[in-house]
Amino acid sequence: MGKAIVIAGVPGTGKSTLARELARVLNTEAIDLSKLALENNLILEYDASRKTYVIDEEAVASKVRSIVENREGYVVIDTHYPEIIDPDIVDKVVVLRLNPFELEKRLLERGWGREKVNENIMAEILGTVSVNALDAFGGNKVYELDVSGKSVGEVLDEVLAVVKGEARFEPGLRINWLEQIPAEALDRFNNYGGDGNGF
Ligand SMILES: Nc1ncnc2c1ncn2[C@@H]1O[C@H](COP(=O)(O)OP(=O)(O)O)[C@@H](O)[C@H]1O
Ligand SMILES: [Mg+2]
Repeated sequence: MGKAIVIAGVPGTGKSTLARELARVLNTEAIDLSKLALENNLILEYDASRKTYVIDEEAVASKVRSIVENREGYVVIDTHYPEIIDPDIVDKVVVLRLNPFELEKRLLERGWGREKVNENIMAEILGTVSVNALDAFGGNKVYELDVSGKSVGEVLDEVLAVVKGEARFEPGLRINWLEQIPAEALDRFNNYGGDGNGF
């Protein structure tokens, strides 16, 4: 029976890039949860208004469980909805946090529309992924890393320290983008017409 190291964060924070590097160093596999859901057709529907797939959370959770249970050692999983994974197979959840302006640049580079970009920037500002992870896994398993301005190698070193139990990047109000964002930028990010709780 293996254990999952979950790399979480809103889209664009660098999860997949980091997960691949981490898996390489740990000599294991990296699983992108959205890709896993698509490749195995674990999808309930396509939400056209939000341009996103609604995944079958129960089916994805049981697929992840069987992968982790059939492995020795770590499996690296990257996802923006860590809370769907069963807590008993999870060793640690590392939430990547990225300065909203850097995030904006990366998401626009992906060619995403303003609405979807803003929705994700607001999720980053509100710390939605961290809140959901804390709710599901509790404070002892959840870590928060500010990856702003850091190279992939620098982030990898910090995550490896977490995996080895050598560093404790506690979640909470340590990372607070609201303090760093001018009111007019917040107005711009907040003006997207969505319901504010999705990706
Ligand atoms: N530490 C980093 N510094 C600069 N750019 C990065 C870093 N990590 C990832 N990126 C870039 O940011 C974009 C989003 O990364 P990706 O790993 O796809 O994020 P996610 O899986 O969270 O959506 C990619 O273009 C990637 O090359
Ligand atoms: Mg990704």
